[in-house]
Amino acid sequence: MQDTADDLRLRGKKIGFVPTMGYLHEGHLSLVDEARKRSDIVIMSVYVNPTQFGRGEDLDKYPRDISRDEKKAAERGVDYLFVPTDKEMYPEEHLSFVELDNVSHVLEGEFRPTHFKGVATIVAKLFNIVKPHVAVFGQKDAQQAFIIRKMARDLNFDVEIVVAPIVREEDGLALSSRNVYLSPEERNQATVLFRSLKLAESMVAGGETALSKVRSGMIQLISSESDGKMDYISFVDPACFGKIEETGSLTEVLALVAVRFGRTRLIDNMLLRVRDET
Ligand code: PAF
Repeated sequence: MQDTADDLRLRGKKIGFVPTMGYLHEGHLSLVDEARKRSDIVIMSVYVNPTQFGRGEDLDKYPRDISRDEKKAAERGVDYLFVPTDKEMYPEEHLSFVELDNVSHVLEGEFRPTHFKGVATIVAKLFNIVKPHVAVFGQKDAQQAFIIRKMARDLNFDVEIVVAPIVREEDGLALSSRNVYLSPEERNQATVLFRSLKLAESMVAGGETALSKVRSGMIQLISSESDGKMDYISFVDPACFGKIEETGSLTEVLALVAVRFGRTRLIDNMLLRVRDET
């Protein structure tokens, strides 16, 4: 018989948790490394959560390959892989959801209105099942990471939330399971996201305080070098995720982009250091 999370806790083991939707790549596996540094036992979940996909989104075609995931997870040292079914996670009588006000309805939430309700609900359920001491999420989904940290605080979850850096391809494209949807041409063009964020980084580091000017530079770059359709280019105060248009007194600004290449929607972000004028 396998150990339950309670057995592990009772034996004084520190549990690290990496929730994923599978189709593992180096980005996910770097989260395992972060969890390993902070815990004795690493548990990973693989579950494509239907409630975080809106109507017409890619739930059915989301890439899945559980035997490949099992192999990759084991090679990276995951101790337990939790692969629940839809029936187990959402039995017919399931009525309860977790929703965060405000921050769930901006940026990604404007384009995917039910997304974060699904994310917060499944993560809350997974926390209650896995009972981790530490859970690791990727900075790639910056708004998701912010929301989960906020939920854990607001709802008094006894779990430390760790956010690990974005893992990129050599040409700057952030790793994402959805990159497999890109045609070779779209894959090439998609590198413009990283370059637009680097442009923002250099403008802000160079003393530009008007973020509308930074956005204009990014729009110009993306539209001249790709056929990408921009959903948003936004700047937020990383402490509260409130949108900003001036760097003001902040020392850091988070720039976020969402661009569609053909039928594939990619997101990326970068923390920009503001030039210190004192
Ligand atoms: O980031 C993801 O892969 C998912 O949103 C998560 C956190 C596993 C919840 O389904």
